[in-house]
Amino acid sequence: MRLRTAVLISGRGRNLNALVEAARAPDYPAEIVLVISNKADAGGLAIAERACIPTNVISNKAYSSREDFDAAIDAALREADVSLVCEAGFMRIHSEWFVERWEGRILNVHPSLLPAFPGIRVHEQALAAGVKISGCTVHFLTHALDSGPIIAQAAVPVLPDDTPETLAARVLTEELKVYPAALKRVADGRVKLENGRAVFQEQSETHA
Ligand code: GAR
Repeated sequence: MRLRTAVLISGRGRNLNALVEAARAPDYPAEIVLVISNKADAGGLAIAERACIPTNVISNKAYSSREDFDAAIDAALREADVSLVCEAGFMRIHSEWFVERWEGRILNVHPSLLPAFPGIRVHEQALAAGVKISGCTVHFLTHALDSGPIIAQAAVPVLPDDTPETLAARVLTEELKVYPAALKRVADGRVKLENGRAVFQEQSETHA
């Protein structure tokens, strides 16, 4: 059975689109059944609508606390009988209880080689640090911000004349490959979160 999966977005939805496209394959183990955006003008909503996936705008501005906002998201996920959640450019920090409730069932993609450069202005941070390699990370979300056991990463070179925009584009190209592959492995049950570690069943290999 394909796992009922929701995608949380805040923006244009390139990663969402990659997940939706991957899930078109009949043997893909996850089905995208809901897209939640905290922004009514997120470009990704149109991608979901074109794919006939139900959308739900839950604005953080409508809630006085992070907990109440997360409670509304949690209610929508439960109502849609969701088993897995993918954050794809969702730019809000969750409350601890929400992260704990979905632990092992919530993934995030981040445009750096975590644990380097969490948060925002990621490519500016990378260029300021002078790193020669950057990349992207898909991980289980176990803490509020861009951290948790790593499922997959891909690296790209940082070139001498890079701007945040050119580096972002090179990293995004990798995100669009790595995220669907990582979701597939999790939905297949080949990667699990156990005792705070990502456990890779096929290789008996563990990653903190
Ligand atoms: C992506 O690069 C994603 O990694 C990043 O936001 C972008 C969303 O683009 N996420 C974070 O920075 C999370 N901390 P998209 O809406 O086109 O997929």
